[in-house]
Amino acid sequence: MKVLIIGSGGREHSIAWKMRQSPRVTKVMVAPGNDGMRRHAELVPSLNSHEEILSFIKQEAIDLTFVGQEVYLVDGLVDQIEAAGCRAVGPTAAAAALEGSKAFSKDFMHRHHIPSAAYQTFSDQALALEYLKSLPAPYVIKADGLAAGKGAVICENLEDAQNTINRMLSGEAFGEAGKTIVIEEFLIGEEASYFVLTDGKDFVSFPSCQDHKRIGELDTGLNTGGMGAYSPAPVVTPAIENKIIEEVVRPTITGMAKEGKPYKGVLYVGLMVHEGNIKVVEFNCRFGDPECQPLMMRLKSDLFTLSLAVAEGTLTEQKIEFHKDSAVCIVLASEGYPQEYQKGKIISGIDASSSSDVEASEAKCCVFHAGTKLDGSVYRTNGGRVLGVTALGKNLETALVNAYQAVDQIYWQGVTYRNDIGAKGLLHVRDNRPEKSVGIVIGSKSDLEVAKKAMVLLERFGVGYELCIASAHRTPERTRHFVKELEAGGGEVFIAMAGMAAHLPGVIAAETTKPVIGVPVVSSLQGLDSLLAISQMPPGVPVATMATNGAANAAILAVQILALRYTDLRAQLMLYKMEMKQQVIASHHAAIVESS
Ligand code: AMP
Ligand code: GLY
Repeated sequence: MKVLIIGSGGREHSIAWKMRQSPRVTKVMVAPGNDGMRRHAELVPSLNSHEEILSFIKQEAIDLTFVGQEVYLVDGLVDQIEAAGCRAVGPTAAAAALEGSKAFSKDFMHRHHIPSAAYQTFSDQALALEYLKSLPAPYVIKADGLAAGKGAVICENLEDAQNTINRMLSGEAFGEAGKTIVIEEFLIGEEASYFVLTDGKDFVSFPSCQDHKRIGELDTGLNTGGMGAYSPAPVVTPAIENKIIEEVVRPTITGMAKEGKPYKGVLYVGLMVHEGNIKVVEFNCRFGDPECQPLMMRLKSDLFTLSLAVAEGTLTEQKIEFHKDSAVCIVLASEGYPQEYQKGKIISGIDASSSSDVEASEAKCCVFHAGTKLDGSVYRTNGGRVLGVTALGKNLETALVNAYQAVDQIYWQGVTYRNDIGAKGLLHVRDNRPEKSVGIVIGSKSDLEVAKKAMVLLERFGVGYELCIASAHRTPERTRHFVKELEAGGGEVFIAMAGMAAHLPGVIAAETTKPVIGVPVVSSLQGLDSLLAISQMPPGVPVATMATNGAANAAILAVQILALRYTDLRAQLMLYKMEMKQQVIASHHAAIVESS
C-alpha cells in the first residue's frame, strides 16, 4: 500500500516514521515534507495546489492520503480526494470548521452543551467594545478564521484589548480571518491536549498529552506552535479522561453527524482542567504538533490499519494499543522564533542522539525534523521549529532525562529550547510524603522571625514541618522527645536555629541519624559566636552549617535532601531556580530602563 502524508513539520515526520513500520505499507511519501524526513519517506516537494496533489494521488495510485496540516483540511482537500474516489484521513471542509471557524466551533459547543468558556461573536467594533467593557481582565480575543496559530490573543488590560479588536476587525491583523472575532471568558487551570481518531461514528483514543505553548520557561513570553510535549499528562486523571470522553468527544462526534457534517479524522480537543472540571479551549482538526511526536512513539498498533479504518468507516472493528512508557518531545527552535530568525545554521549531533534508524519500533529516541535542509551531507536549519527530540522512558522523569541527554548532543548557533518541559507533569507525581518531613527547632521565641523565612519556603514547596522551641541547655529532655516524635512520624530532616553558644544543632545531631542543618542566629558578637559553635562539630557528628540567619537556605537544603526521594520536589526545585534566574534578568532590564 502507498501512503501520502500532507504537511511539512515534525508532526508529519513522526506520522511518516510510524506509517513506515506497517508491514502493509510499501511506500511512504510526504508532500511537501522537509529534507530530514528523507530517511523515512520519499519527498514530493513540488505539488502547489489541491489539483496537483489530486493528480499526483491518481497518477501514483496512492492508497491512502493522511492530511496532517489544517489549512488543507479547512480548504477542502479531503472533499476533493474523496470526490475522486480515493481514500483520505481528515475531515471535510464543513467538518474542519470546528478548527477553521472559532464562531462555528463556539456555537456548536453551545448547541450541544459541551463545556467551554462563555463567549460572544462580533463583526461590529462598537458592539465588541461594549461587551468587552462588561468583562473582567484578562481578555481573550480570537480571530474567527485560521491565523497560523497566532489568532488567539490574551490582553492584560482594556487598552490592549481594544487595540487588538480594532486591528482584527479592520483586517490589519489577520486579513479576512480576523474580520469576525470571538471574545471569551478567560479560563484558569492547567491545559491538556486530547486526541481521538474517528470515522464519524466510532472513535479510538490516544493517551493524554500536554503541550508547552509559550516560548519561555515557566510559560512566559510569546505563544508558539508548541515547544515540547509529553504523554501521558498526569493532569488528565482517569476521572478527567472520562469527562473528556462523555462531555466532549461523544457529543461532538454525534453532534457533527446530526448536523450533517460527520467528522472523520483526528479530533484534537484542547482543554483547560481546573478543580476536577474541564472546559474546551479549542478544537483542532488534526494532530497537535509537537503532541503527535510523543504519541506516535507510544503507539503500538499499526497506524496504517487504523487510518484505513478511519477512511473506510470501519473503526468499530479496531483496537488501539500503546506502550506503557512515557514519551517526551523537546522542540529545538531557531534563535528569535516565534519572531524573526535566521536560517541555514549547520546542525551537528543529530546522528549521535537518535536511535530512530536502529530498529524503528524499538527506538528509544527519535529526532523528528520540523525544518531542516540537507546541504551535501550536513543538515542546516530551515525553519522556526527545527527538530523535535522525542524519547521514551519507563516514567515521565526517565523519559525527560533520555530526551534532554539527546538534546545535549545537538548543537547549532542559537539553538533554543525550554529546560522545563514536563515539569508540570512531575509536580503531579505525589509520592506519599509524611505529613511532617522537617523538624524546625529554635532555641528561643526571639529566633522565630528568622525561622519564618524557612517556614515560608517549606510551605511554598508543600513540605510539612513542625516547629518546636527547645533549649539544649535548659530542656534537653524536651529536645530529645521532639526528635524521637518527629522521626516516628516519618520526619527526615532537622533544621536547628540558635544564637550565642548555639549547642542546639549539635544536641539534635547527637540524637538522630537524619541530616541536621544548623542556622546560626545573630545575637552577641554579630552571630560569629553561634556560627563557630555550630560549624565546629566533633568528627562523625556533622551539622550542615548555614550562614548567619540563613534560614531560607536551610529550607532549600532541606528540600534538596528530601528531593533525593520525591519526584515533585525535584521538579519544584528546578522551577524555583528558573524563577530566580528570570528575576535576576528582569531586575537587570529594569535597572537599565531606570538608568537610561
Ligand atoms: P487557541 O488558538 O484557541 O488554541 O488559543 C491559544 C492559546 O491561548 C491556548 O492554548 C491557551 O493557552 C490560550 N487560551 C485560549 N483561550 C483561552 C481562554 N478562554 N482562557 C485562557 N486561555 C486561553
Ligand atoms: N501544539 C499545538 C497545535 O498543534 O496546535
